[in-house]
Amino acid sequence: MKILLTGGAGFIATHTCVELCAAGHDVVIVDNYVNSNPEALRRVEEIVGHPVKAYEADVCDPEAMERIFAENQIDVVVHFAGLKAVGESVQIPLRYYRNNLDSTLTLCETMARHGCKRLVFSSSATVYGEPDEVPLREDMFCKGCTNPYGWTKYMIEKILQGVVNADPEWSVVLLRYFNPIGAHESGRIGEDPNGIPNNLMPYITKVAAGQLKRLTVFGNDYNTPDGTGVRDYIHVVDLANGHVKACDYAMDHVGCEIFNLGTGVGYSVLDLVNTFSRVNEIDLPYMIGPRRAGDVDACYADPKKAREVLGWEARKTLEDMCRDAWHWQKNNPKGYHD
Ligand code: UD1
Repeated sequence: MKILLTGGAGFIATHTCVELCAAGHDVVIVDNYVNSNPEALRRVEEIVGHPVKAYEADVCDPEAMERIFAENQIDVVVHFAGLKAVGESVQIPLRYYRNNLDSTLTLCETMARHGCKRLVFSSSATVYGEPDEVPLREDMFCKGCTNPYGWTKYMIEKILQGVVNADPEWSVVLLRYFNPIGAHESGRIGEDPNGIPNNLMPYITKVAAGQLKRLTVFGNDYNTPDGTGVRDYIHVVDLANGHVKACDYAMDHVGCEIFNLGTGVGYSVLDLVNTFSRVNEIDLPYMIGPRRAGDVDACYADPKKAREVLGWEARKTLEDMCRDAWHWQKNNPKGYHD
């Protein structure tokens, strides 16, 4: 299959590109590099051992998208492109809504014009809102989000469901990611956040590298076994393989389906800190601080539907995630800017 990855130079997309190439697919990338680095694609080419066609363009630009679809017979699109920093989305909501919604609309209009009607979308477990019960199932009511980033994911899900309702030839797969961490085992590609990381694992690796002084654990009075927040951390390579299965599924089915991509197991902040220290033999200084606004006690997936329908399940352990995240950080102290 020929598969277009929008936002193809990003963290999850680069790992997905590697797995799609390994499965024998032909990948085309579009990225404007506002939040990514072309060096990541050079590394992907090094891992897969052949060039990967890439366009530097904005998915919001109808002419650029028209050219990509005219020049390539795309079978499936995986739509990763989007702004994704939760805190920033609260500061500049209009930019988030404009960019994330506009890019999706331009993409779908271009796809429809070219008769390409198969789309896999990067959604997030954030659309469930504050869970009444865990594990989370795809058929549970989504209570709404706590920030504009989350709302863009929620709204895009609704837009894509509307597209399928209007034209039943479309095939849309909505992938709700839980907490992707880790890196490719080569240590050549990984997560490269701008500035001080907001998410737990990249913060931990920067503390381990001595670039940040210590971790602040956001609250230890949650309703969880050790009081710290519980999340469903999933190795990015497992997540990438979920996209390979989702592309296969989109080829053979029509309609709109939602899948959780998580392990089904929740670990606390302290589980992650202790496992990271143990497997990498590094002391991780931390202090307990106040809760972070918008955080929930526990959030983890029921991954049954993905297992039964896509034939996918996560294989890697928390130890693998901690080892690979550190391997990437250690080999690339400044990410792709070395
Ligand atoms: C966050 C976003 C979510 C997004 C996801 C992308 C929020 C509220 N949610 O999920 O919408 O899809 O990232 O990966 O921001 N923690 C600390 N100290 C830190 C950082 C985090 O204790 O310095 C804790 C948090 O309180 C939480 C856990 O670590 O319990 C995971 O946090 P994080 O990695 O930011 O992910 P989420 O908040 O689950």
